[in-house]
Amino acid sequence: MSRSFEAVVTENREVAVNHFRLTLAPDQEVTLPAPGQFYMLGITGGTDPLLKRPFSLFRLGKNGAINILYRVKGKATQIMTGLQPGSVLNLLGPLGNGFPNVEGKRPIIVAGGLGVAPLTALAESLRFDSPRIFVGARYAGDVLATDILSSIDSDISISTDDGSMGIQGVVTDAVNEYLASAGTSAQDHVIYGCGPRGMLRALAGLSDRYGIEGYVSLEEYMACGVGACLGCVTKTAGGYRRVCKEGPVFRIGEVIL
Ligand SMILES: Cc1cc2nc3c(=O)[nH]c(=O)nc-3n(C[C@H](O)[C@H](O)[C@H](O)COP(=O)(O)OP(=O)(O)OC[C@H]3O[C@@H](n4cnc5c(N)ncnc54)[C@H](O)[C@@H]3O)c2cc1C
Ligand code: FES
Repeated sequence: MSRSFEAVVTENREVAVNHFRLTLAPDQEVTLPAPGQFYMLGITGGTDPLLKRPFSLFRLGKNGAINILYRVKGKATQIMTGLQPGSVLNLLGPLGNGFPNVEGKRPIIVAGGLGVAPLTALAESLRFDSPRIFVGARYAGDVLATDILSSIDSDISISTDDGSMGIQGVVTDAVNEYLASAGTSAQDHVIYGCGPRGMLRALAGLSDRYGIEGYVSLEEYMACGVGACLGCVTKTAGGYRRVCKEGPVFRIGEVIL
């Protein structure tokens, strides 16, 4: 099956200020994506913007529909806001490695800001492993997808920097509190994180302190998305690695955050 295909926009809805949910119906049978994998999206098919942009799988819909949750940032995402049902986009993917499934451990899912996009796909796939879900954002308007996530973990913890929703403070403080109260069973968990580097660094500290295995998904500027341009390398304990090819998911401790 080709990883390069066209898909028709079936919905492009604003779900929060500056955040949209895009639903795409592939025009052919395509490889099923795994949580943590991503697509390079060709927005116009033309030369402006020239490069495709990377977006994570947010949810898999009916009949193989691909859902993407995006934040308006610059040129490409601004153009995306004007996509109407029937528009055709060029996609490359699914790309990257995705999150590994760790048998016998209770997942702790930690999303900072738009890190909630790939982690929603993960949470849905781990629904029957009773994941504990922690979401952090700057303020209430940036808290996304909690309707879906709270149907998976009714004890979902939400933290905001300004206290406008949930607990005031950083999300990793809530994770620390949970692990501290778990006592020796803290080690029965596995951590999955996606968000700003500072949050991932704090998660790496918790993984180290409690002796818990963990995985983080990284974002880097990407030009090709397929390992050819070396534009997305990140430093790891084993040398430089391409986030698009050897990642975007890396084992905590392996990657230098
Ligand atoms: C693996 C991966 C998954 C991603 N998943 C999502 C997602 O699900 N939802 C979402 O809203 N965003 C996601 N992003 C970030 C998204 O790719 C950028 O926000 C988007 O490319 C911005 O394009 P722009 O033209 O609007 O902005 P501009 O800032 O004008 O982009 C200019 C250039 O910078 C690159 N760029 C900008 N920001 C980033 C970034 N944070 N990471 C990598 N490249 C960047 C663009 O690709 C482009 O080449 C993901 C990034 C990566 C690497
Ligand atoms: S984006 Fe080209 S090697 Fe990763």
